[in-house]
Amino acid sequence: MKITVVGAGAVGASVADDIARKELASELVILDIKEGLAEGKAQDMMQTATLLGFDTRISGSTNDYSKTAGSSVVVITSGIPRKPGMTREELIGTNAGIVKGVCENILKFSPDAIIIVISNPMDTMTYLALQSTGLPKNRIIGMGGILDSARFKYQLSQHLGCSPADLNAVVVGGHGDTTMIPLIRLATWNSAPVTNFLSAEQQAQIVNDTMVGGATLTKLLGTSAWYAPGAAGAALVEAIVRDEKKLFTCCVALDGEYGQKDICLGVPVIIGRNGWEKVVDFGLDATEQATFNKSADAVRSMNEVLKTL
Ligand code: LAC
Repeated sequence: MKITVVGAGAVGASVADDIARKELASELVILDIKEGLAEGKAQDMMQTATLLGFDTRISGSTNDYSKTAGSSVVVITSGIPRKPGMTREELIGTNAGIVKGVCENILKFSPDAIIIVISNPMDTMTYLALQSTGLPKNRIIGMGGILDSARFKYQLSQHLGCSPADLNAVVVGGHGDTTMIPLIRLATWNSAPVTNFLSAEQQAQIVNDTMVGGATLTKLLGTSAWYAPGAAGAALVEAIVRDEKKLFTCCVALDGEYGQKDICLGVPVIIGRNGWEKVVDFGLDATEQATFNKSADAVRSMNEVLKTL
């Protein structure tokens, strides 16, 4: 099994590090356009192999896509990250060209790869990857919902004073500060609805803090976060390569599911060796569906921008 991570910045390196530690591949290639960066990070990670006890061979490449040939899964993290005060949406002009070029180059050498998109604005970049490659829709997956759901569970655990591992909670919709939808009505603490234990004010606070989770970190760090995005990307890779049939919220192409078409948006899906295998209907109530439709409208108008580039 060979896996490629495109982009050796903080998020790319974090995904690669987690893939190696979990031994999800025998061979892992990191590629970046910046001379020497991917090679350096790959060598640094390889020097942890005997200390951490993993057996994945990691190599780096400066923009030589032939080194990525035969990859089963490719994770795209390329593009500029946001700076404090920026929205993910402001990155579209720069990142669209980068993501489109990366997809073309990857498919020249790995025509059967499943593509995971992490670059922002993620919903629009996933849609772009789908449109520009023409690949079957199950092979293009945007990562955002896994990350946002992990952040949602973190926020819930802080208020409940419980282990995040005991929580089940998902975020659907877009991966934007105003487009994501933490489904608090359906969140449970080992099967008990979390809403039994939280006041209306606490619930509103948790939902809000989840939605601006990425922006909060960008403000603290001066750039966007990497540990949780990296771990979320690696969890998605793991579900694919181990054919886990895990239920994750991911950004996928909708064709009528959740009332939407011609858009990539976050919904619960089953992930296995074929990529995303099916959408699971969580039965949104009328308010949630209306919010989902609004999120879709916002993402759709972002997608329109692609036509002007
Ligand atoms: C975040 C970026 C990776 O949410 O979108 O941290």
